[in-house]
Amino acid sequence: MIELTSITGLRGKVEIPGDKSISHRCIMLGSIADGTTEVHNFLQGADCRATIDCFRKLGIEIENNGSSVVVHGKGIHGLNAPSEILDVGNSGTTTRLISGILAGQPFDSKLSGDASLNSRPMRRIIEPLTRMGANISSILRNGCAPLYISPGKLTGIHYDSPVASAQVKSCILLAGLYAEGETSVTEPSLSRNHTELMLKEFGADLHSMHELDSTKATVTIRPCQELYGQKITVPGDISSAAYFIAAGLLVPDSEIVIRNTGINPTRAGILKVCEDMGADITLLKQRIEGGEPIADILVRTSRLQGTTVEGDIIPTLIDEIPIIAVMAAMAEGTTVIKDAAELKVKETNRIETVVDNLKAMGCDITATDDGMIIHGGKGLHGATIHTLLDHRIAMAFSIAALVADGTTKILDSHCVDISYPTFYDTFEGLL
Ligand code: S3P
Repeated sequence: MIELTSITGLRGKVEIPGDKSISHRCIMLGSIADGTTEVHNFLQGADCRATIDCFRKLGIEIENNGSSVVVHGKGIHGLNAPSEILDVGNSGTTTRLISGILAGQPFDSKLSGDASLNSRPMRRIIEPLTRMGANISSILRNGCAPLYISPGKLTGIHYDSPVASAQVKSCILLAGLYAEGETSVTEPSLSRNHTELMLKEFGADLHSMHELDSTKATVTIRPCQELYGQKITVPGDISSAAYFIAAGLLVPDSEIVIRNTGINPTRAGILKVCEDMGADITLLKQRIEGGEPIADILVRTSRLQGTTVEGDIIPTLIDEIPIIAVMAAMAEGTTVIKDAAELKVKETNRIETVVDNLKAMGCDITATDDGMIIHGGKGLHGATIHTLLDHRIAMAFSIAALVADGTTKILDSHCVDISYPTFYDTFEGLL
């Protein structure tokens, strides 16, 4: 538990830890590539540590010296049968992506995680993998992990995904590496494309296409015999930067620079929403590193207005909705968030956790079936925040606490370890 009160004048520069999505993918692709993969600015959050543990159990030597990691890849067919169950912890990304790789292996494996993970929907990967010829089942027959995967002969399919989910897309593409023929995935709108960018860097035969006059995006992969180890510097995670963007905008008399942040357009929807809300944000030193766009983000205290967040932008900011809701609570006027039913199947049901906690802080907010409606600008007061061990709820409401009257208690605040172990230290650096 942590107790926080309001502050003014956040000033300075912050360095954000490595991107969680990219860090997972470095371990996975590094493990099935030939040669070593050297990863700098690797995120040492619990989710990414779970991915390292799983691949170690699959026989991969992975050196972890703090922020840099060296993966001694054993090639596309080099994984060994695990002698124990693979513990995926709280990580949906680990579970869904590794399942695509495991579906193509000549050995059995079992995956299980914590209570939250084991209640999240896995039919969304079981169904397409089964169509490819994989043998994957939910051990408790409830469509969730624990999962059991045994050898199957994979054939490429075309999958028209009902959800814009990078985890589903990546799972199928990784299985496609082991399938006969071509595998393609069409999603209703483009979700984060780190798997595609990184697979290309590692030498996979892959191409992406946007349909004309439609938001649909298709990616196609052909099986391959070899991937090649890479040297990767992971950009700062925009999902983690989002808390400091919000803090810089909301806390009076603030000016902060958030350095080396990934601004891949499939992730940077929050910047567009901030612009729509009237935020004073400038992107400095824009550049491309390792195929990923990066910038330093200068943020100054701003008067925000309500906005509508809907449609194709949703997948590009899905993890930022809790902090966007906090900004909306402090903004003048009404903010409507819709088309975001996916929030219900994150680490918690984030429509409920966001609405319940903002209500506890005095916000005029209503849950809807696919989002929420927030009547902002009436101020927040301190409250006890029930994070339900959801890291993004802990961090979003820590920022709300900085602009609320009175004291806010964040229960189970240690859960920030999932994606941002040094979150509260970064904060102190700005005070
Ligand atoms: C992720 C994809 C998103 C996101 C998650 C990380 C990834 O999930 O919410 O935090 O690394 O692929 P979905 O694919 O389920 O939308």
